[in-house]
Amino acid sequence: MSKKLNVGLIGCGFMGRTHSNAHRKVNNFFDLEYQPVLKAICDCNGGKAAAFAKTWGFESVETDWKALLARKDIDLVDICLPNNLHKEVAIAAAKAGKMIICEKPLARDGQEGAAMVKAIEKAGVPNLVSYNYRRIPAVTLAKQLIDEGKLGRIFHYRAKFLQDWTISKDLPQGGDGLWRLDVKVAGSGVTGDLLAHCIDTALWLNGSMTTVNAMTETFIKERKHQLTGKVEKVGIDDACAFLARFQNGSLATFESTRYARGHKALYTFEINGEHASIAWDLHDLHRLQYFEHRDEGRLRGWRSIHVTDGDHPYMDKWWVPGLQIGYEHSFVHQLADFIQGLQTNKPAGPTFRDALETQYVCDAVLKSAKTGRWEKVRHCGPKP
Ligand SMILES: NC(=O)c1ccc[n+]([C@@H]2O[C@H](COP(=O)([O-])OP(=O)(O)OC[C@H]3O[C@@H](n4cnc5c(N)ncnc54)[C@H](O)[C@@H]3O)[C@@H](O)[C@H]2O)c1
Repeated sequence: MSKKLNVGLIGCGFMGRTHSNAHRKVNNFFDLEYQPVLKAICDCNGGKAAAFAKTWGFESVETDWKALLARKDIDLVDICLPNNLHKEVAIAAAKAGKMIICEKPLARDGQEGAAMVKAIEKAGVPNLVSYNYRRIPAVTLAKQLIDEGKLGRIFHYRAKFLQDWTISKDLPQGGDGLWRLDVKVAGSGVTGDLLAHCIDTALWLNGSMTTVNAMTETFIKERKHQLTGKVEKVGIDDACAFLARFQNGSLATFESTRYARGHKALYTFEINGEHASIAWDLHDLHRLQYFEHRDEGRLRGWRSIHVTDGDHPYMDKWWVPGLQIGYEHSFVHQLADFIQGLQTNKPAGPTFRDALETQYVCDAVLKSAKTGRWEKVRHCGPKP
C-alpha cells in the first residue's frame, strides 16, 4: 500500500457519509496498492462541510465544486450530489483529468447520461457508478451461481423496491432532504431512484432488456415547494410497475412505490430458472434463498444460505465465518473493486457506460407509462 489516492468528495449528505466511511476503511480490510486520502470535502453548505470535515477527517473544505476540480492535489472526484448536478460535475471532472465515482442514477435521463459517457470516455478517466447493491455478498453470490449455469435457462425475474415515506400530503417537495420529490432535480420519482437499483442488478444478473410496458402514478398531485414556498405541481412518479422482456427470453415484473405503508426499504428479487431459483431480500441481506430441483426429492426445499463463510464473496476480508456484515460494507467493496480495477487495468463495473443502459431502461419505462404501449429499450452497447 504505497500510492496515495487523493479524494475530493462533493456532497456531504447521506451518500457523502457512506462513501467517506468506505474511503477510511477500505485499506483496513483489503490489501491494495492505493490508499485513499481524504484531501477535500465540498458542499455548498459551508457550515455542514466544515463539521463533516471534522467528523470524517478531511484535510480541507471547499464550498464551490469548480474550485475543488481546479485543485492539482485531487486524483479522484467522488460525486455524492443530487441527480441534477451529476452531468455538469462529472463532465467537468473528466475534462480536468480526474478519476470519477458518481452516485446513481448516472443522470436524470438517457440524453444526459449519453453526454456524460461521451465526455468520460474521451478523457479516458477511470469511472464507476455507485450501484452498491451488486456488492452485497449474497447478491454477488447470486451472480456467481447464475454465471456458473446453476439455474439453467432463466424464465422469470421479479423485483420490487418498496418504501412508505411520502404518503403524507403535507410533505413538501424540493430543497434539502426533499429534492427527490422535485422532478427538475431528481429527473423522475421511484423509477430513477429505486427502480434504477433493481434494473442495474437485473441487467447484471440476467442480461439486457428488450421491451417494457409500464404504468406510473402520482398520488399527491400538488405539494408546497420548500424553496419557493408555493404550492406546485408534483412531476415525479410516486409509484411505478412494469413488465419487461429480456434478451435471454425471460419475463420480468418490477414494482416500486413510496406508498407501501410499513415498508422502509424493501428491495427484493427472485429469479426462477429451469433447475433452481434464487431469492434475496435487503431486510435480510446476508442470506440468499436457494432452491435446487436436482436435490434428492425427500430433501428438496428452499435453503437459506447464511452468506458469511470464507468462501463467500468478499467474506474472507471480514470477521470469522458466521458473523455477518451489512449495508455500509457494500460501499467498501465497491471502492476496493474500483481500486483493484486501477491496479489491474480491468475496470470494475458498473462503469458510466454500464449505468447508461439502466438509464435507457428508465427512459423506456417512463415513455411506456405515457404512451400506454410496449416500448423498445435503447442500448449503448460495449465501449467501441
Ligand atoms: N447508492 C445508493 O443506495 C444511494 C442512496 C441514497 C442516495 N443515492 C444517490 O446519491 C446522491 C446524493 O443523495 P443523498 O441522499 O446523499 O443526498 P443528500 O440530500 O443527503 O445530500 C446531498 C448533499 O449535496 C449538497 N449539495 C447540493 N447542491 C450542491 C452544490 N451545488 N455544490 C455542493 N454541494 C451541494 C447538499 O448540501 C447536501 O449536503 C443522489 O444522486 C442519490 O440518488 C444513492
